[in-house]
Amino acid sequence: MNKEDIFHQTTELLAQHHAIWSKEILFSYPNHLASYELLRQKRLYRRELFEKINSLFYHSLFNCSTSFLGSQRIDLRRLKEKKQHEITRIAHLLQQQQHFPSSLHLIDLCGGMGHLANHLKSHLPFFQQATSFDNDEKLQQKGRELYGHHVSFKSKDISVLNALDFPQREPLFLCGLHSCGALSLKQLQLSKEIPASFFLNVGCCYHKLKESECNLSQMAKDNFTFHNNESLTLATRGHEKESPQNRLHKIRVKRFRYTFYLLGLRYFPHLPIQQLRSSPATLYKQSFTTYVQEQLKRLSLPPEEFSETFLEHFFKEEKNKKEVKMMIHLGEYRKEFGKLLELQIVLDRYFWVQESTRQNIQLKRIFDPQISPRSLAIF
Ligand SMILES: C[S@@+](CC[C@H](N)C(=O)[O-])C[C@H]1O[C@@H](n2cnc3c(N)ncnc32)[C@H](O)[C@@H]1O
Repeated sequence: MNKEDIFHQTTELLAQHHAIWSKEILFSYPNHLASYELLRQKRLYRRELFEKINSLFYHSLFNCSTSFLGSQRIDLRRLKEKKQHEITRIAHLLQQQQHFPSSLHLIDLCGGMGHLANHLKSHLPFFQQATSFDNDEKLQQKGRELYGHHVSFKSKDISVLNALDFPQREPLFLCGLHSCGALSLKQLQLSKEIPASFFLNVGCCYHKLKESECNLSQMAKDNFTFHNNESLTLATRGHEKESPQNRLHKIRVKRFRYTFYLLGLRYFPHLPIQQLRSSPATLYKQSFTTYVQEQLKRLSLPPEEFSETFLEHFFKEEKNKKEVKMMIHLGEYRKEFGKLLELQIVLDRYFWVQESTRQNIQLKRIFDPQISPRSLAIF
């Protein structure tokens, strides 16, 4: 199997299950559950589908060896575990690139405080210069204080930069680690336009993309996947690592949200309850009654519409609990499609660059997704 095959199988599975991933469970419940029927009823079908999704997302074609070749250790003790992991993996990956020239100018786009630029510049001898671009002046100032001796910091909005804004006479390495939404596209576009440049891109925050910023490659145009805001959000959050604490919190949020939805279906079905935005985390630590009162205010209804006794009983009623549990399960099934959606987006970007540059570029999983979930890199 090659990347084209993986892409075709991914888009085919997405097309077959479009009705599931393209809308959140509240928009399907209870009248449009037909698309979930097989997943609900047939355990074997469900297991095989999820195995298929995982086999595509974690395909060995994306495996990457980032074992450390040199003797130098990188001291990153001051940084968070996730950042340490990312920097170490990228440093090891770049160290293995035999085709790099002996002198490269590292350009870190959306480089934040410059942790990555600083550590790459200090440990990889082929990086003779490093410049970090970011539009957050506060981060840039902190970066100057910490790493000013290794890295130049430039406060710029990278979305307005073009190839001529970069040094023309030296080989460049354009790095974009977790550049949000379309900023990744900007980075890849610049990499395509600047001759003699090398690059590495790991995307994130797909929910910030517009639909027109997906399906860029001919490959994706020929096998179109219709994204919307909900699918892009699912691609971003679909397989985030969850601590047990976080998981419990999310379940409580869903129990409140879905039970309130059932309440609304029964007592004010004409109101757009599905569209209510999420509430502050502290609200979910309080009673269901307090939560409902807040939502009623948002809907311009009197908070005393229902008594506390009624609401607490509604929340604990067996029939409602069962229905909410079902909605939570269906939401979990839907979440599995986040992997396919992310894979579709990243593969599209890979083909988009490859189709125009004809370069031998790679797409590999460079991070452990348990530590850094947006782990697929194009380089
Ligand atoms: C998710 S963070 C990644 C930071 C860094 N690359 C890392 O991995 O730690 C995204 C960064 O993009 C910067 N950013 C957002 N929009 C930008 C823009 N239009 N131009 C330049 N930087 C931008 C933010 O300030 C932030 O530092």
